[in-house]
Parts: sequence; structure tokens; C-alpha cells
Amino acid sequence: MKQLGSLLSDKGQTHILQGFDELSAERKLSFLSEIESIDWDTVALWRHPEDLSGKGKIEPIEGLSLKDIETRREEYFALGADAIRKGKVACVLLAGGQGTRLGSDAPKGTYDIGLSHPVYIFEMQISNLLQSCKACGAYVPLFIMTSEKNDPGTQAFLREHDYFGYPKEYIRFFKQEMAPSVDFMGKLLLEERGKLALSPNGNGGWYSSLKRAKADEDFPDIEWYNVYGVDNVLQRSADPVFVGATIVSGKMSGAKVVRKTQPQEKVGVLCLENGKPSVIEYYELTEEMANMRAADGSLVYSFGVILNYLLSARKLEEIAQERIPVHVVKKKIPHIDERGETVRPETENGYKFETLILDMIRLMGTCLPFEVVRESEFAPIKNKEGIDSVESARALLQRNGIEL
Ligand code: UTP
Repeated sequence: MKQLGSLLSDKGQTHILQGFDELSAERKLSFLSEIESIDWDTVALWRHPEDLSGKGKIEPIEGLSLKDIETRREEYFALGADAIRKGKVACVLLAGGQGTRLGSDAPKGTYDIGLSHPVYIFEMQISNLLQSCKACGAYVPLFIMTSEKNDPGTQAFLREHDYFGYPKEYIRFFKQEMAPSVDFMGKLLLEERGKLALSPNGNGGWYSSLKRAKADEDFPDIEWYNVYGVDNVLQRSADPVFVGATIVSGKMSGAKVVRKTQPQEKVGVLCLENGKPSVIEYYELTEEMANMRAADGSLVYSFGVILNYLLSARKLEEIAQERIPVHVVKKKIPHIDERGETVRPETENGYKFETLILDMIRLMGTCLPFEVVRESEFAPIKNKEGIDSVESARALLQRNGIEL
């Protein structure tokens, strides 16, 4: 205990021991194990939230346009469907996030976006996947990433709904890890006395968490992981045409992209950075680059990513030991104050530490941008209202003939 006291004192974090003596023996133990697993190097990054902005030489990347895809659609489909039937393709549904912008404590996938009858986000995800399975004549392994916080809720919900018709034997859940959060002065936040305010450590850790959980051990033939976010209710997963096109390209990864509609659109853009594929956030593109146009008038940096990637299993194994950068992200983080009372901040009050899947793309070495029709494949639900909200997603679903 003395040792711990001096460690926390060195780190300027003794405040987290407030009320320690009054904790139950059990709580003391769990708190000590939380403290032991703190990665202090990561916590120290709070001073450098801007360090990640140093980018290399940015150039446009070649990709497949809608027209390119159309001319070879049958060939791509045949190849992709064959890979799916041979068990070479698995899906990874990223559902470990907290969905703070949506403002619900429940797992995001359990959110009901229906109007006249319930339509859940998970239901949409599975129904989209089932369409691909039907077209190919085979099911794919479906790995669902949850977090320590939302795992029980997610599993219970899907069980109650009979996995929305997806065969249970193809589904595996695995949990991602948690990371501590700090205030703007780098002080660790507590959720309650004897409990750190932990949150999921970002979607970049999906592969190591999947492997640690041995979630894939019953599926030895996987060569490709199709990884995607839970919040795009028009997401087309295990899309055989996308799979086939990526295989034909010989690249180690593929990314579904939509054309940016205007230079200032807030979407990450796929390009080359020092010759390697890289996703550049909208605020990292210079004004000149954002506005740059080709001879035909189209934007040069126009491939907006939609969090739907296909990644080679072999390459993932090869890069498994590489460290992906940790992003220091401003968030609203509920915590207790010095009196032990819970504070639910209205505005951002601290930093969380997250790794992001988009940083894996550079490590993959090569990537094929694969254009999709925005109105048919991109309806993200991030916010309660306005852009990328329940409302905008509903309108898009209805436009695609889905009854709500
Ligand atoms: P977002 O970046 O939208 O984060 O996640 P979020 O936590 O869901 O929402 P906000 O920012 O708090 O409002 C994009 C995708 O990555 C998953 C999410 O579930 C979503 O599918 N994700 C995010 C994880 O699986 N784990 C994480 O730690 C973060």
C-alpha cells in the first residue's frame, strides 16, 4: 500500500485514494487491480493531444469508381461469393462504443429507430448481413465486439430477439479493453469512490481483443475480416462484390468509400501518406487540398471513409505487434467530485484515450478504395438530432424502401 501511495504521488494522482479506507475489502481489491493495470505511458499523453497532427507527404490514392465496379461486377461477385462459401470471410461488428453523442446509456445497437413498429439498429445490421448471405448461399462467422460496460446488455438483447434470425452457432462475442480517463489537467477521474472512470479504448484494438478472446478458434479458414461500425444502418456487410474486387486487386485491405459532396464535408478521406494508404481527418486536409479538383471537375481528395473495411488476416497477423497511435480525445465524462457526488457534464470535461481502426490502414501497407452509392449504403446514427442522426437515418432507410 505504501508503494502504491508513492507511485500515485509520483504521478500526481493521490486524489483517487479519497475515501479508500472506508471501502469494502472487495472493492479495495478491485480498485487496486484497476490501478495496477493503468498504462501510465498512455495517461501521460494527455499533455500532447496535438502530437498526432504531424502528417507526411499526402497524395491522392487510386481506387475503383462506381463505373469501374459496374463493368466487372459479375466477375467480382463470383470470386467474392466463392470466398464466402469457403469460409474465408468473417464479419466483425464494432459495438463496443459508448454512443455518448446519442445520449443513451444502453448499447447503441439496441436503439429502436422504428416509427410504427420497433426497428432496432442491431436488427438492421443483421438483416443487411443476411442479404449477402442469401445471395452467396452461406453464412459467415459474425464476431461482435462489446465492451466491459455493454457486454451483458448486448448479449441479453440479441438472445431475447433470437439474434434476429442469424444462426447462433456463427456468432461469437468478444470484449474490448478499457482505458482510464483524465480531466484537462491530467488528473484521473473516478466514476465512484474506489472505481476509476474507465471507458472502451477505441475501435483500433479489435484485432488484439478478438485474438486474446480466441473468438476465431472455431473458424480456421478465415482469410479476410470485414470490419464495420454498428451505427450505419445501411451498412452492407460481407458484400461479395467488395470482397471479390479486393481479392483481384492483390491489396492487403479494401475500404468502402463514398464521394465527398463538398470540400468542407466532415468525413475522413482515404489518400496516400508517404506512399502508404492513410485516412486523413477532414481538419487535417489543407484548404488547398480539400478544394483541389481534377480536369473533369471532381474533387481530387474525395474518397470519404464510412467505417467498412476488409482486412487480410495474414497481414493482420504480421502487424499484430506494431503499436497503433493513441488518440487523446475530448469527451463528456461523468465522474465524482471531491465530495463524492456524481457530476454529469454538459460540455467536454476531459480526455479519453483511444486507438482507431483507421490507423490500421497504414499498417496494412496497401488499400483499395471501393466506391459505393452514398444514399444506398451510408446512414450513420451518431447524434440525437441534425446531421447523422436518427432522423436523417430514418429518411434514408425509407428512401431505400424500408418500412419503419
Ligand atoms: P464512434 O467513433 O462513433 O464512437 O464509433 P462511439 O463511442 O460509438 O460514439 P460517441 O463518439 O461516444 O458518440 C464508431 C464505431 O466504433 C465502435 C462504435 O461502437 C461504432 O460502431 N467503437 C468505438 C468501439 O467498438 N469501441 C470503442 O471503444 C469506440
